[in-house]
Amino acid sequence: MANVVILGTQWGDEGKGKIVDLIADRFDVVARAQGGHNAGHTVRIGDKKFILKLIPSGILRPGKKVVIGNGVVIDPAALLLEIETLEEAGVEVAGNVFISNRAHVIFPYHRMMEKATEQTPGKVRIGTTSRGIGPSYEDKVGRRGIRLADMLNGDTFREQFQANAVEKNLLAKALQIEETWDFDAIYDEYLGFAERLRPYVCDTAVYLQDALRGGKRVLFEGAQGTMLDIDHGTYPFVTSSNATAGGVCTGLGVSPVHVDAVFGIVKAYVTRVGGGPFQTEAEGDAAQRLRDQGGEYGSVTGRPRRCGWFDVPLLRYSNTINSFASLIVTKLDVLDGLETIPVCTAYRYKGEVLKGMPALSDVLEAVEPVYDERPGWQGATAGVTDYDALPEGAKDYLRFLSDQVDVEIGAISTGPERDETILMPDSTLAKLLK
Ligand code: GDP
Ligand code: IMO
Ligand code: MG
Repeated sequence: MANVVILGTQWGDEGKGKIVDLIADRFDVVARAQGGHNAGHTVRIGDKKFILKLIPSGILRPGKKVVIGNGVVIDPAALLLEIETLEEAGVEVAGNVFISNRAHVIFPYHRMMEKATEQTPGKVRIGTTSRGIGPSYEDKVGRRGIRLADMLNGDTFREQFQANAVEKNLLAKALQIEETWDFDAIYDEYLGFAERLRPYVCDTAVYLQDALRGGKRVLFEGAQGTMLDIDHGTYPFVTSSNATAGGVCTGLGVSPVHVDAVFGIVKAYVTRVGGGPFQTEAEGDAAQRLRDQGGEYGSVTGRPRRCGWFDVPLLRYSNTINSFASLIVTKLDVLDGLETIPVCTAYRYKGEVLKGMPALSDVLEAVEPVYDERPGWQGATAGVTDYDALPEGAKDYLRFLSDQVDVEIGAISTGPERDETILMPDSTLAKLLK
């Protein structure tokens, strides 16, 4: 009975939602460990399109249970809206969603703080999703955060909230935030949210432990990507949680002994939203072509995604952190029609080829990618479901990537729909999905 992790290997938006939705039918529970409604996981099922933000994509498979772990930060208004939207679309949410009582809550002041700090002159702009994610994690680590369990506890919530209110008012003054907020109104609103969320809240670590002991299969759905990880990513241009394999254990209270394999979702090129280094970023027409063909606009903020070429050193590093059993390559079809496809195989810095991934963003900004111009292919991969039917050039491209990173390819996605996928029958992925 395999329990597996699906992770983003680059800067997010690799197609995790599509893959999780595709394979969720082989699992009993799908669990999220980190992030919040900064995530946007798009799933297309026929003419329906769902963008899941906080709720694991497994919810779209009838009868599957989904868990939002302690490592996730929750904006109750966003979560309730997502529940409503899913219910309106005919998805059964009640009884299928389990939310950790230890998950931290996002309040309106988190968003305001984020806006103010992002706009502070002289401060590095991260280009966040403006959802209050970072400030909420700051309060968590600062040991003043408010968790769902606290919000549901009428005796202490008011006190905690007031203590936060005093502090946030002082901060707002110092940051010269002109926007004011009505703490009593927010408190009352959140009491209302608490009652609406109460039926979903439990100790999800215990829920998962019982499920695992009972032989249920769990799929762990990552959000963001390895290069956005707070520890291993392109700091400070990262999100505020651990989007790598280790985050699964801390963010859900599940021991690593329960994780059988980690699979990395790899876009056939690279995108990034927000600021920060992007070693293989393309410019002009080349970037616009990838953006147009790949529909590369943020699913949460609508921002055009920065687009560029496949980056082998980045993926090697991602593999160092996560130890992927197989790679799942997505959006291969977006490269259809290109005459040649640049693949970055190394970084050069001050004339030297670098080993590993530099820790300094300034160095990453300055590296010179060494490109191998790979031939493109005649014919389309779009919608192909059989490996043998792929153009030879596309097979060469995939083999090249796999050899460079030294990880097998477990599946290839050739379109946004569930069935536009090729599963490699001899891969670890295929074996563990049986
Ligand atoms: P996630 O955040 O990793 O779940 O990825 P997003 O949903 O933010 O972005 C991936 C986008 O690509 C979505 O619009 C998907 O519908 C789409 N997509 C996923 N796989 C493929 C694929 O193989 N080909 C194409 N053309 N689109 C894909
Ligand atoms: P999914 O799960 C792409 C980026 C933001 C910004 C940085 C910090 O859909 O792959 P934050 O609001 O998290 O403090 O912003 O992280 N970011 C994402 N980029 N996909 C995501 O999620 C992202 N979640 C956060 O653009 O650069
Ligand atoms: Mg996304």
